[in-house]
Amino acid sequence: MARGRVIAVDGPAASGKGTLARRLAAHYRLNFLDTGLLYRAVAARLLGAGGEPHDAVAAEAAALSLDPSDLKRADLREERVSQAASIVAAHQPVRTALLKYQRAVGRTLPGAVLDGRDIGTVVFPDAEAKLFVTASLEVRALRRVKQLREKRNKAIGSRVLAEMKERDARDGSRAVAPLKPADGALVIDTTDLDADEVFHQAVRFIDSKGG
Ligand code: DC
Repeated sequence: MARGRVIAVDGPAASGKGTLARRLAAHYRLNFLDTGLLYRAVAARLLGAGGEPHDAVAAEAAALSLDPSDLKRADLREERVSQAASIVAAHQPVRTALLKYQRAVGRTLPGAVLDGRDIGTVVFPDAEAKLFVTASLEVRALRRVKQLREKRNKAIGSRVLAEMKERDARDGSRAVAPLKPADGALVIDTTDLDADEVFHQAVRFIDSKGG
């Protein structure tokens, strides 16, 4: 399926998958796609038009009318958009609408590192290497609180933890493309690892695949 090199990086929010995926893309000189941004853009577009994230028809319409400028919206990381993204992502028609674009990015030479929830299981099951990056819920919530504080946002730890738990549960239990490690994926638990250790583990694994 893939023509360029494709490296799939999946995992829950604040697991460190984005940091790792960006670094791998630079290391192997590949393109990079944060697929979560696509779901966030659908959600932001829908909310902006007064739509309801549980409405599958409206969510599909938002996905089909997505414009590149939607990926640059300033509100994509807001909590209400995060929750709505997790809800629209459970609708199969939304996922189908976004599939073609994700595959096109992976097939464009020289290839790409894609990060998301279902890259190794659904989007590129034949990826050259699949990584599943995870960490404990508590550590991920602490990382998110720290990020928000750096942005001078007043984050209440317990609220961040509760919202993350809610999103994990929805992303992991939905009927379509639930978050789970792909067959043959290397699982990296970053709870007690720093970004360098995660990167070196990933590179050793990818290089052992003959890339
Ligand atoms: O990675 P993120 O937190 O930016 O993703 C936002 C939401 O999008 C997440 O709650 C689940 C969904 N998502 C998905 O279902 N599949 C992907 N490949 C990427 C994200």
